[in-house]
Amino acid sequence: MLLYFMLHLFLFPYYMGTLKGSTLSATNNIGKPGCLTMCGNLSVPYPFGIGKDTGCSLDDSFSVICNTSYSEPKLFLLSSGIEIYNISDSEFRIATDVAYKCYNEDKTLSWDLDMNYTISPFSFSPKNKFIVIGCDDFSMIRGEGFSGGCVGLCSQARHGPGGQCLGMGCCETSIPKGLDYYNVTLYTFRNHSDVWSFNTCGYAFLGEEGSFKFQGASDLTDEWSVWERILSTVPVVVDWVVAGNCSECKGNSSCVEVADVDGGGYRCKCNNGYEGNPYLHPGCQGYRYVLMWSLLSGRMEWSWVEIHGIA
Ligand SMILES: *[C@@H]1O[C@H](CO)[C@@H](O)[C@H](O)[C@H]1NC(C)=O
Ligand SMILES: *[C@@H]1O[C@H](CO)[C@@H](O)[C@H](O)[C@H]1NC(C)=O
Ligand SMILES: *[C@@H]1O[C@H](CO)[C@@H](O)[C@H](O)[C@H]1NC(C)=O
Ligand SMILES: *[C@@H]1O[C@H](CO)[C@@H](O)[C@H](O)[C@H]1NC(C)=O
Ligand SMILES: *[C@@H]1O[C@H](CO)[C@@H](O)[C@H](O)[C@H]1NC(C)=O
Ligand SMILES: *[C@@H]1O[C@H](CO)[C@@H](O)[C@H](O)[C@H]1NC(C)=O
Ligand SMILES: *[C@@H]1O[C@H](CO)[C@@H](O)[C@H](O)[C@H]1NC(C)=O
Ligand SMILES: *[C@@H]1O[C@H](CO)[C@@H](O)[C@H](O)[C@H]1NC(C)=O
Repeated sequence: MLLYFMLHLFLFPYYMGTLKGSTLSATNNIGKPGCLTMCGNLSVPYPFGIGKDTGCSLDDSFSVICNTSYSEPKLFLLSSGIEIYNISDSEFRIATDVAYKCYNEDKTLSWDLDMNYTISPFSFSPKNKFIVIGCDDFSMIRGEGFSGGCVGLCSQARHGPGGQCLGMGCCETSIPKGLDYYNVTLYTFRNHSDVWSFNTCGYAFLGEEGSFKFQGASDLTDEWSVWERILSTVPVVVDWVVAGNCSECKGNSSCVEVADVDGGGYRCKCNNGYEGNPYLHPGCQGYRYVLMWSLLSGRMEWSWVEIHGIA
């Protein structure tokens, strides 16, 4: 007993050193054994998994490809080739796409792109907004059982101030839950004939609320810099769930059913006080703050210590 106590005291400073600031080893089961879990600095937690037919993901819809031929490795959904910016326990973020229509001085079209986007079996999150930029434009976004629209109007003297998307040159509207597909069509009132000297294009896109900051006049005048800024800085938030009946939730976790994501499904969540990947064996593990005598400081301190079997 005394020996145990002394050992513990002497070992304790060592534990402090390895535990502080780093992830506890047992919570490190991000992916299946033998699977890559990092792509550059992006973490890929199971049920997502890297590679085709590697058995690292729950099924094909969660398979991703890590392409290292970029200066910073990039992650793509295997099924669709859509780029993923990052993955959390209920969402992931992907690149957006922009529809546009640009006009010549004689009212004819110079550039024209309508678009559609499919993310099935996942869903576009209601955290996204549908945004239209332009002075003579309106745009419709349509999906299954849904259609919404937004109008961008302005004149040279009265264009929207930067930072606000309130209809003057910039308009935004909400989308419903559970949308797994949408398409965007742009329309114009007068082919930009009245506004052409300072606004030749209209744009429409879906993007995470708050990620696009309308800069006023410069966004209306400059044809391509706003387009480039949207593509490089605006993510689309996607909700993911596992289809089926909770069969993947491992120990010390509970199943949360999610009805409003495409097709419905569930997510697993570690119970309070437990950490780890709830989809992977051995499930979530318990950690507790306990009061311990620190040899280093010579006083009682709260520390993260792994405790098995309690809680
Ligand atoms: C990951 O790398 C990208 C590109 O270098 C960088 O912008 C981002 O901040 C990094 N993220 C983290 C969490 O380190
Ligand atoms: C990685 O990206 C490069 C450049 O886009 C492409 O040529 C290559 O086919 C990609 N590799 C894989 C494995 O997808
Ligand atoms: C995920 O990406 C989005 C947009 O690129 C960023 O705002 C967010 O902070 C990122 N989250 C994490 C956990 O890296
Ligand atoms: C989506 O757009 C592509 C071209 O970008 C087109 O080939 C396809 O038919 C469209 N699909 C739907 C469902 O609108
Ligand atoms: C856009 O989506 C709606 C709803 O799914 C569909 O009815 C319509 O045909 C689509 N339009 C285009 C141009 O793909
Ligand atoms: C806009 O262009 C379309 C097709 O190019 C044309 O039919 C229409 O009359 C034009 N409208 C105006 C207001 O000039
Ligand atoms: C739950 O789903 C799995 C896989 O789809 C199936 O094998 C299992 O029988 C189902 N269990 C129940 C209780 O429905
Ligand atoms: C629950 O967590 C405890 C403590 O970490 C662990 O010993 C146990 O194996 C877990 N239970 C299950 C069913 O995985």
